[in-house]
Amino acid sequence: MSIIITVSNQKGGVGKTTTSAALTSGLALAGTKVLGIDLDPQGNLGFCLGAGPDTRYTILDVLKGQIPIEQAICHSEYGDLLISDITLSSSGLEKLPTKRETILKNAIEPILERYDYIIIDTPPALNLLTINAYSVSNHLIIPMASDILSLVGLAQLKETIESVRSTLNPGLNVLGILLTRFNIRTTLSRDVLEMAQQLADQIHTKVFETKIRSGVAIAEAPAHGESIFLYNPTSAAVTDYLAFIDEITPEIQL
Ligand SMILES: Nc1ncnc2c1ncn2[C@@H]1O[C@H](COP(=O)(O)OP(=O)(O)OP(=O)(O)O)[C@@H](O)[C@H]1O
Ligand SMILES: [Mg+2]
Repeated sequence: MSIIITVSNQKGGVGKTTTSAALTSGLALAGTKVLGIDLDPQGNLGFCLGAGPDTRYTILDVLKGQIPIEQAICHSEYGDLLISDITLSSSGLEKLPTKRETILKNAIEPILERYDYIIIDTPPALNLLTINAYSVSNHLIIPMASDILSLVGLAQLKETIESVRSTLNPGLNVLGILLTRFNIRTTLSRDVLEMAQQLADQIHTKVFETKIRSGVAIAEAPAHGESIFLYNPTSAAVTDYLAFIDEITPEIQL
């Protein structure tokens, strides 16, 4: 059975896709069987991990039941991927009469035995796609950029988590808050850390020990369609994301 991890925050640009790509490729390069699923119509995860434009099917084809899931999965050296594109934003899934919140759960059921981990990247929203991801997940990781504005608005996320727990997925665990673009030398980052710790308390979770530092390699790697691990193995981002994977590994076992 797969362990399913969703990377989510309704704020935009906080490092969801970067973290999803690092987890997918980092776990794959470490020899585990990983599937990355892009549930964001922006389609950035596939782009970050070098999925070519020749990929014929997207996650939407699978959600609509139009093709078998196996046919939509593309294989890369950084793990398997289910990509998305802009058509996911007007998918019509919200018009389905029943079981709208568990379309993803039902769609991936046939391949759960095949993977150790499934990593889901989500859009900067709390919508039906996000709810579908929460409904099927064992763990949530909440990335937050290290600026004060990116910390505001967690109440809505808390409500969504609680509502999913009370109905669709009682076992949903919030693994923690991951601070990204962190710079320990600034007072701001230290203030952010303190505030993030208070927010973590409110949702009964923790701020991860590992912080992801700011660095250009993170922005450059996707331009080359490469995982940061191969693009620049000596970068701070690689050191940090490897430390992050080490930190969470004991908690994400079956
Ligand atoms: N640690 C970091 N250091 C420097 N740049 C970073 C870091 N993390 C992310 N970025 C950059 O910030 C931008 C936003 O990151 P990313 O796409 O991962 O965020 P996101 O939360 O997925 O955004 P969206 O909400 O639009 O999906 C990207 O250009 C990315 O390269
Ligand atoms: Mg993204």
